[in-house]
Amino acid sequence: MTNTLPLYERVIATAATIREKTQCTPVLGVILGSGLGALADAVEDAQVVSYDELPYVPKSTVKGHAGKFVCGTLDGVQVIVMSGRSHIYEGHSPADLTVGVRAMIELGAKTMVVTNAAGGIHTEFRPGDLMAILDHINMQGSNPLFGIYDERLGPHFLDMTLPYDRKLRRLMQKAASQLSITLHSGVYCGVLGPVYETPAEVRMLRSLGADAVGMSTVCEVIAARHAGARVVGLSLISNLAAGLEDTALSHDEVTATAERVAARTVSLLRTFIPLAARDN
Ligand code: HPA
Repeated sequence: MTNTLPLYERVIATAATIREKTQCTPVLGVILGSGLGALADAVEDAQVVSYDELPYVPKSTVKGHAGKFVCGTLDGVQVIVMSGRSHIYEGHSPADLTVGVRAMIELGAKTMVVTNAAGGIHTEFRPGDLMAILDHINMQGSNPLFGIYDERLGPHFLDMTLPYDRKLRRLMQKAASQLSITLHSGVYCGVLGPVYETPAEVRMLRSLGADAVGMSTVCEVIAARHAGARVVGLSLISNLAAGLEDTALSHDEVTATAERVAARTVSLLRTFIPLAARDN
């Protein structure tokens, strides 16, 4: 991938290509985590742009992640869905990972829904549970503003007092209650990966206040806040974190659990999205 252009120019070029190919005018964007591609399939009047057509968007090499933007409407709301994301552990720089989310915001998606699969650390969490993200801990060793100072993108020193919008989280809780879905809330810890944690690391993360752990999300949320979007986060607890159950962890387990509860997750998102759009 060529990244010799400044990040801002790459974002503008990506948004322009998507606009040309789709006439897309989204008010809300969604980033789909492992196994959640079913939401992209539900988009009506879908217009698709593959990451292959977008030179500045990193391609995902991970099983369970497609690589396309899907624009259209979901329950009457104009959306853009990023189906498939890349991660730092695939060798991308944190800033490069944010081209997609920044392009969606540039296109008009000022509300960003960020989803992921995560390992459950909180003692009450079970595989298949859902957690609204209250806050996050960045243990990825870097962040997407490192080495970037361009006021066209956002402020140099970014306030992170309220990374996840409280009102949107309440609306997600409302959507969950309407569907009789239990929605936990908790702190997501982003780690580098691609190795899973050791049991000692999981005990450490718990003592630091983490309720779930995963290898994504943090960079996108920082970039979305930097670009002025409001953010809501949803973790699908795909497994218990290392050492909390007897079995070894595997990506197959992560995607199998995500797919098992995908229908429930998609209905939660589809009930939530019109509430969020109305609140715009
Ligand atoms: N750890 C880190 N990332 C993850 C996990 C986990 O247990 N499950 C899904 N993504």
